[in-house]
Amino acid sequence: MNPKQVLQQYDLRTTNCQLSIGVLASGHLCLLYFGRKLPVQTDLRSVIEDLPKASYLADTDGISDFRLEQLPLMYPAFGTPDLRAPAIRVRDDSGSPIINLKFNEKRLVAGKPALPGLPATHVAGEVKTWEFDLVDSVTGLTVTLVISTFVDYDIFTQSVRVKNTATTPLRLDEAQSLSLDLLSVRFDLVTLNGAWSRENHIQRTQLRPGVQGIDSKRGASGHGQNPFVALATPDTDWQHGEIYSANLIYSGNFVATATVDMHQNTRLQVGINPFEFEWKLSPGQSFSTPEVVFSYADKGFNQMSQRYHRFYLDCLLPKQFAKQSRPILINNWEATYFDFNRQKLLALAKQASELGIELFVLDDGWFGKRDDDSSSLGDWVANETKLGGSLSALATDIQALGLQFGLWVEPEMVSPNSDLYRQHPDWVMSDSRHRPQLARRQYVLDLSQSVVQDYLIKTIDQLLTENSIDYLKWDMNRNITDAYSHGLAVDQQGEVYHRYLLGLYHVLGTITTRHPQVLIESCAGGGGRFDAGMLAYTPQIWTSDDTDAYERLQIQRGTALIYPPVTMGSHVSAVPNHQVGRMIDLATRGAVAEQGNLGYELDLLTLTTTEKQQIQRQVTTYKAYRETLQFGRYTVLPVDEANEWAWSKVGYGFVIVDHITILARPNTVPKRLKVVGLTPTKQYQDVRTQRCYSGAFLMSVGLVIDRQNCDFASQRWIFKELH
Ligand code: GLA
Repeated sequence: MNPKQVLQQYDLRTTNCQLSIGVLASGHLCLLYFGRKLPVQTDLRSVIEDLPKASYLADTDGISDFRLEQLPLMYPAFGTPDLRAPAIRVRDDSGSPIINLKFNEKRLVAGKPALPGLPATHVAGEVKTWEFDLVDSVTGLTVTLVISTFVDYDIFTQSVRVKNTATTPLRLDEAQSLSLDLLSVRFDLVTLNGAWSRENHIQRTQLRPGVQGIDSKRGASGHGQNPFVALATPDTDWQHGEIYSANLIYSGNFVATATVDMHQNTRLQVGINPFEFEWKLSPGQSFSTPEVVFSYADKGFNQMSQRYHRFYLDCLLPKQFAKQSRPILINNWEATYFDFNRQKLLALAKQASELGIELFVLDDGWFGKRDDDSSSLGDWVANETKLGGSLSALATDIQALGLQFGLWVEPEMVSPNSDLYRQHPDWVMSDSRHRPQLARRQYVLDLSQSVVQDYLIKTIDQLLTENSIDYLKWDMNRNITDAYSHGLAVDQQGEVYHRYLLGLYHVLGTITTRHPQVLIESCAGGGGRFDAGMLAYTPQIWTSDDTDAYERLQIQRGTALIYPPVTMGSHVSAVPNHQVGRMIDLATRGAVAEQGNLGYELDLLTLTTTEKQQIQRQVTTYKAYRETLQFGRYTVLPVDEANEWAWSKVGYGFVIVDHITILARPNTVPKRLKVVGLTPTKQYQDVRTQRCYSGAFLMSVGLVIDRQNCDFASQRWIFKELH
């Protein structure tokens, strides 16, 4: 027998892409191909069978010169002679970590099975799911790769189910959601990195030998690294180049790595971080990894982003909100911080209503005795003295002004100075031997305990039932330390981070099922948990606590590399900006906020009449083009990226183009901005000048960029699509 012989080839195809998996005579599962769709039944066996032998590698299964380590594998296990990074590590009762997974069977079903307990994408259009069972005959471990093809979206998803079919317990030490071996190293690694207030900046570095990547050990996906990774060929820009990318639908500790091996191959892996992770699998029990979304694009970052945007709107966001136009909001945080009373709130709301704003959000400080961040988290009872009456009465009064009413909560946290903590000190994450660490003067509730989950469900449910609330801002303002749960056995403490997430998803799932009409915007000190896991429950996320328009350009470009622009909460705030002190013109602040999901977060009562008129115009225009701005196809336009930013939104009958020049320069000859992705033969009419242009003209000749005489100047064009 030639162990490298490909006995079966399975082609998983979408409209434009193909993932081909081979079963070798040895029983191992290989990745034969991932890329542009090939003619039907293209024989890919030679990819494996023709591979010349590499030296100094172990033989596999006693067959000389059969070297698993040099093959592109689908889900490498620790225990085989492949000494690269494994996708799965398990230890059984004997203490042995050796497993050798062999293909057992494949099932093909229409649609997609549910992923209990975890957020997952749902079916739209033609979807097929392939399940590949791999078995280790010694331990009785069964690993199922569940791969779905979203044919119309050119998107693949995978989740891995690990089952103990033995009669003794197993311990799972690692199970990645995805492991892809690409037979090339000609890639740049692209990730989204940052910190609080400067999230999701795009980072791009050339791959080098060894392990490189990103991770989180913070108990949340985090401000520092987003659970997204891409490998782009070096020539890749917004319009060209090949990109392999993956985005984990998960909000906790994750890892995403690219490992370049000794033979110039790249292994791309994404999953739960194996750091402080272990999972006890009793006989008969299963564990499912979070789902990962992955794709291949061959026309640059815009194509990649557009595929994710469309897919997430149709297949990830709660269905009732996915395509629902989002209200323009006013949030009182930067207007008042903790310092407000009923009169101030109503005056702000009245002014907002007069300007055409649609939703009033009451931020932190409305409950307990909270006039700063030192107390009351956990005591979700309105401070009626501060609100000048009940919360319900305030909501009614605000709604009487023609606004919807929204409320801030931070359910996962507790202040040491709170009734909840005094009653239940054992509900916080802590080993009770070390003093638990504080951040922002608060502790993290142990959401792995069902009693805590039940309490949160009851409390939030009650808040939403007893008050007329249209919107919730669900905040989370610190990361997890003291990861120890009093609800778990000693040998299960390695499960606490993941169980926290399962608890959170259970709470969010229950609340959103009971109150499907409440729009939830999640937040974690801004974008500290901006991930696909949260988007499955909360169709908006506050992108960053930095509201400066220039900082936002970078944050939003990175965030929108994957996540639909309408999911990005984005507010016009005051100048000088509260985070960086920068002065930026109101028109540009508006244009940048409209790149995402428009809101206002400033004291409207201190504005000049001219400023109020300008905001009123912004709001009116936004409403007129809301569908295009919120759901139109978003494209980054090619400009001199050292000093300019430009993007367009296309759809619902209009094309909207925004251009921003960062620093004004003297004596320049204005250049043209070429639009991308229009229909060459279509006519487009500038709604301001009434002039008509063909798509070909706009794409090949372009629009005139004005010479700017101030920094951060913006220019906008709106075209009506004619015929
Ligand atoms: C976090 C949020 C802010 C605001 C404050 C309130 O920092 O990101 O928008 O809600 O909490 O404490």
